Amino acid sequence: MHSRILILDFGSQYTQLIARCIRSLQVYCEIHPYNWSAKQISDFHPQAVILSGSPYSVSQAGAPHPDDLIWQLGVPILGICYGMQLVIDHYEGKVNPAEKREYGFAELRIRDFGDIFRGLGHSEAVWMSHGDSISLLPEEFEVLASTENCSYAALKHKGKPVYALQFHPEVVHTVKGREILANFVFGVAGLVADWTPGSFIEDSLAKIRSQVGDKQVLLGLSGGVDSSVAALLIYKAIGKQLIPIFVDTGLMRYKEAERVKELFSPYPELQVRFVDAAEIFLTRLKGVSDPERKRKIIGSTFIEVFETAASEYKDACFLAQGTLYPDVIESVSFAGPSVTIKSHHNVGGLPEKMHLKLVEPLRELFKDEVREVGRCLGLPDKLIQRHPFPGPGLAVRILGEVDSEKVAMLQKADEIFISELHGEDLYNRTWQAFAVLLPIRSVGVMGDERSYDQVCALRAVNSVDGMTADWTELPLGFLKKVSSRISNEVKGISRIVFDISSKPPATIEWE
Ligand code: XMP
Repeated sequence: MHSRILILDFGSQYTQLIARCIRSLQVYCEIHPYNWSAKQISDFHPQAVILSGSPYSVSQAGAPHPDDLIWQLGVPILGICYGMQLVIDHYEGKVNPAEKREYGFAELRIRDFGDIFRGLGHSEAVWMSHGDSISLLPEEFEVLASTENCSYAALKHKGKPVYALQFHPEVVHTVKGREILANFVFGVAGLVADWTPGSFIEDSLAKIRSQVGDKQVLLGLSGGVDSSVAALLIYKAIGKQLIPIFVDTGLMRYKEAERVKELFSPYPELQVRFVDAAEIFLTRLKGVSDPERKRKIIGSTFIEVFETAASEYKDACFLAQGTLYPDVIESVSFAGPSVTIKSHHNVGGLPEKMHLKLVEPLRELFKDEVREVGRCLGLPDKLIQRHPFPGPGLAVRILGEVDSEKVAMLQKADEIFISELHGEDLYNRTWQAFAVLLPIRSVGVMGDERSYDQVCALRAVNSVDGMTADWTELPLGFLKKVSSRISNEVKGISRIVFDISSKPPATIEWE
């Protein structure tokens, strides 16, 4: 079994960052809600436990506490921020509101390096975010480091491998944060870096084979990174038993079906079934302008088309999906469910309806890990680095009513933008970029004639996970070139604008 760490989530906004950092050290870890039961914890067999931060204060009524078992496991424990308070509370120290709250950078003065600060300097920049601090230190603990406003910034149990940090090693502002977590993982817990893309692939092939046996597996291939990596992984495990179905909704990127054909051409046994469903999608979208209605129509039509295509394969018992780890983590929401801003199109409901069992080989991976696995499987870099593309496709990038002419126009404009980004080496430095067709016309001149054509907006953003985003400052000379190519080469568009809105308040897509 690989090294494995359990991260208990008490609702901090940074919990995923802890996991990503540990995974980047090639050590496997999972995030689970703070109230995981004793049975769940012991079944997981953690070799170390990390307690995350939280918006709560440990002395507050209703503050989240872990199952007592974690203190009896005997494995190394690292408490971060609120996690530190839990450690101190468990050992009967006291936590009170701090005299001085501390948010932002602080200078950590290390007086005892122990195992956890090995290789660091006497003074290091760390990121603090807390309103409580320890007022009574339990006897069993010693102080390793402090800051100007916080005497107990890092603590260690005198006899057990239990550490507590008031600052956040998982955020980039803590300059040596990664080293501190590495010291905990390798130095304190003695784990080994044994979780690599290669080992993941090897484990997955065995898992897929044992789950699926000799049955067929259906897979909805979209041409994006996740479904392509899932397809190749499953293909490597079970060969011809995989039935990938590509539904061309007519709302995809420029020449997408051809691209998918080319992508999988080195694997002649991996035969993608192409379903041209453009007409049915466009017919159902006729006269529809409301974005949410468009999404619903596309979602249900997709299921219908996929189901019809799949009904040929009577022996198929499984449906493969490119579900990723962020979709799986049971996030701890203290503020109740968040409001749905946009309902996302997916094939939810399909497995139950068709009585299929799910195969989700990527459900343990973050996006950057999926890319690593894809690379390791031999997929080309151009696919691996591909920007996200929404399920409802160009329908949410053609504002207002959608028709085939508008789709063709937008596909061309978008292709020019994207190929120029590639050409200028800007594509991989942008998180997502695309063109949008606006439902307005504006006056222009073409030669000696007056034109009255459509407006196209260019959108480029930088983001980490799509939750927030900043518009990308593309070079003006580049924008000039793209604008002139679009107006010269795409009939029907005479004006091009560049979107300079961040998210929030705007969203990334226009609809
Ligand atoms: P927004 O527009 O919500 O987009 O800021 C955040 C990210 O999600 C993508 N997106 C979608 N993806 N179905 C999808 O599969 C959808 O309906 C959808 N709407 C937005 C968007 O492209 C961006 O990456």
